Parts: sequence; structure tokens; C-alpha cells
Amino acid sequence: MKALPADDPRSFAAQASVHCAYCDGSYSPEGFPGAELQVHNSWLFFPFHRCYLYFFERILGSLIGDPSFAIPFWNWDAPDGMRMPAMYADPSSQLFDPRRDGRHAPPKLIDLDYNGREPRLTDNQQIDHNLRVMYRQMVSLSPTPSLFFGSAYRAGDEPNQGPGPVENIPHGPVHIWCGDPSQPGREDMGNFYSAGNDPLFYAHHANIDRMWSVSKGLDARRHTDLDDPDWLDASFLFYDEDPKLVRIRVRDVLDTGALRYRYQDVPLPWTAARP
Ligand code: C2O
Repeated sequence: MKALPADDPRSFAAQASVHCAYCDGSYSPEGFPGAELQVHNSWLFFPFHRCYLYFFERILGSLIGDPSFAIPFWNWDAPDGMRMPAMYADPSSQLFDPRRDGRHAPPKLIDLDYNGREPRLTDNQQIDHNLRVMYRQMVSLSPTPSLFFGSAYRAGDEPNQGPGPVENIPHGPVHIWCGDPSQPGREDMGNFYSAGNDPLFYAHHANIDRMWSVSKGLDARRHTDLDDPDWLDASFLFYDEDPKLVRIRVRDVLDTGALRYRYQDVPLPWTAARP
């Protein structure tokens, strides 16, 4: 993917740019010239990023000739995953990105509500804190589907209607924690336009996407998808592995089985971290 020329939609460079095509005012929503299209800070956050990863994964699978290839998830919600995964931190790897915060290379523990200041906690305190953050965002602040997904954002609305709790934290802090504070915009991970340049982005977002699946398993009665047609019929354009431009709707991605993946069933220690 990295070896392909940047004008090939399957190249890593082009795939990284897909992210900023859908934010930073690059395009307008269909039928609303002049308006700003923004897939963050609203109910489009979970489905847009699922679609993005879906095509990224298909393209990678086709380039390596392995249709069973799956993007790994960075399991930052469990103690064993609360460090930058070693394979992304090896400077000789294609998965490495020099534009990161060097202080946060392994074995540094992540702070899931990082705000740019280094917490002064022991490892055990940090783990405990992170589990409480997960409980707060996934359970306490997400009692209904509309609270979990974030504010409605319909055709013609102003962007940034309001993120759901998980988009807010830990999604945002993990980005900030990874980015390089000596870069003007905390590139790569700390900025929309550059985040997709770090291979770690895709593992971070796989875990964000996993949180959507996990949430539905917590309490099947309360944690359903939204049934608002404006959400279900919202759609995005992506290049597939051919590469052909295709349209995908939110309603097409609610069932990960239909997209041919399922997350490994790993422990959820934060479900017991009720404050
Ligand atoms: Cu499109 Cu993690 O942001």
C-alpha cells in the first residue's frame, strides 16, 4: 500500500487523505454547496469510520492476496493493551511513524482521558483510572442509543452538532496522546488532516469500532442502533479494491457479520469499574 503511487486510490497516501476529505471543510454535503461536510462531532462518527476501515481493510487484503486479512484492534480498554502496541513502535517497521510523542513509546501507559498534561500516577493507579474512564464513557454517559452515538446531523444542518461520549473520550485523547507535541498541529495523530498518515490510526479506530459492537452486547435492549431514517440513509463514497468509486449507506454497516468480520471476544475489565 505504501509502495503504490499517491494517485492510486489504493495507496497509503490516498487512503490517509480519505480521512481529511470528510472533515476540515474539504467538501460540501450533496445538495448543499457552500456548507461544510464534517463526519466528526455527531452521529456520523461511528458509521463513517466503520466504512472507512472496511474499504481500507478490503484494499489491504486484496493487495496482499489474502481476503481474510483483518485490521488488528488496539485493545487500549484492557490493562494489557494500555501501551502503544510494540509492532507500531518499532522504528524499522512500516507501521512506525516518526511524528509521534516520543515520551509515549512503550512501556509508557496511556492515559485515556489525556489532555496534554502528563498525569502523575503509578501504573496501577493509571490502569484503574483508565478502567473508570471506560465505564463512565461506555456505561454511565451512554444509557441510550441517541446519547451513545452523538447528536443528530442531518442534510443542511451546521456541522459539529455534538459528539457522543466515546467519540469525545477516549477517542480524542488517544489521538492527542499519540501525536508529536513538537509539531505545530500535533501531527500526525493529533490532527484530522494528518491522522491517517499514522498506521496506528487504523488500529485505534478498529478499537473504537469495536466499542460500537461491544456496546450492543452490554445490554441488547438498551443498546440498539438508531432507527432514524436520516441516519440510516446517510451515505459516503469510497474507493474499493478494484479501485472503483462506490457508495455505502449507514444501514449497510450495522451488522459487522455482513461486512465479514467479528471482533475477538476478549475480557472487558472496565464493566466492573463502576465508580
Ligand atoms: Cu476521523 Cu479518530 O478521527
